[in-house]
Amino acid sequence: MTTYRIAPSILSADFARLGDEVRSVIDAGADFIHFDVMDNHYVPNLTVGPLVAQAVKPYCKRSDGTPVPLDVHLMVEPVDALAQMFAKAGADIISFHPEASRHVDRTLQLIRDAGCRAGLVFNPASSLDVLELVMDKVDLVLIMSVNPGFGGQSFIPEALRKTAMVRQRLDAYRAQSGREVLLEVDGGIKAENIAAVAAAGADTFVAGSAIFGHKDYRAVIDAMRAELARVA
Ligand code: DX5
Ligand code: ZN
Repeated sequence: MTTYRIAPSILSADFARLGDEVRSVIDAGADFIHFDVMDNHYVPNLTVGPLVAQAVKPYCKRSDGTPVPLDVHLMVEPVDALAQMFAKAGADIISFHPEASRHVDRTLQLIRDAGCRAGLVFNPASSLDVLELVMDKVDLVLIMSVNPGFGGQSFIPEALRKTAMVRQRLDAYRAQSGREVLLEVDGGIKAENIAAVAAAGADTFVAGSAIFGHKDYRAVIDAMRAELARVA
C-alpha cells in the first residue's frame, strides 16, 4: 500500500505568524512543510529566503519531537548558491527546475553533498527527458500542475497524464534499483481532486490555498486523507 504524504505550502499561510502557522498545520496532520522560494527572475513573484527557512525550522516537528521534513521548492535562477544556503538553513529536501540550472547533474550532487534529498521539478510544458539521465541522483520528482509563481491557481488536468508517465518510470526504476523516489504534485490540489492525482500515481501532495484558505486545517487534511483512503 502506498504511503501518502500531504505537504501544505506555506505560501498561503499568514506570514505575520509563520511559526504558529507551521505548528498548527503540523498539529493538523501535515507530513511535510512545503516552502516555496520565488526570486522575481525565474518566476514573476518574490517570496522568502534562507533566513525565513532557518526561522521556521525549529517549528518543523511534531509535539512529541518527531521531525517534519522541510521541503524547499526553489523557483530561482541560478540555483547552486541558494541551494547551499537553504541546506545550511535546515532544508531536508531541495527541489529545483532543471531549466534554471546550467549543470543539472552538478546541482543534484551538490544538494546531496550538503546532506539533503534532491528533487527535480517539471513545469507543465517541460519534457521529462532529463530525468532518465540523472535518475540515480534524484530522490523526488515534483510535477507542477500549475505554472509556478502563485498560489490559488487551477489544476491543469494534463498533469495527470504526466504523473502517470513518471509513475511508470519510477516503478521500473525501483524494480531495477530497489530505490524509492518520491512523486510529488504541486498546484491546485484540493480534497475534490486529490484522489485523481493519487490514482495517477502521486504519493505526495502539495496544497496551499486549499488548506490555509480554510479556518480548520485539520478538517481539510482529514478530508484529503479520506479521499486518499478510497484510492489505496
Ligand atoms: C506555485 C507553488 C505551489 C503553490 C501551491 O508556484 O509552487 O506550491 O503554493 O498553491 P495552491 O495549492 O494554492 O495551488
Ligand atoms: Zn511549490
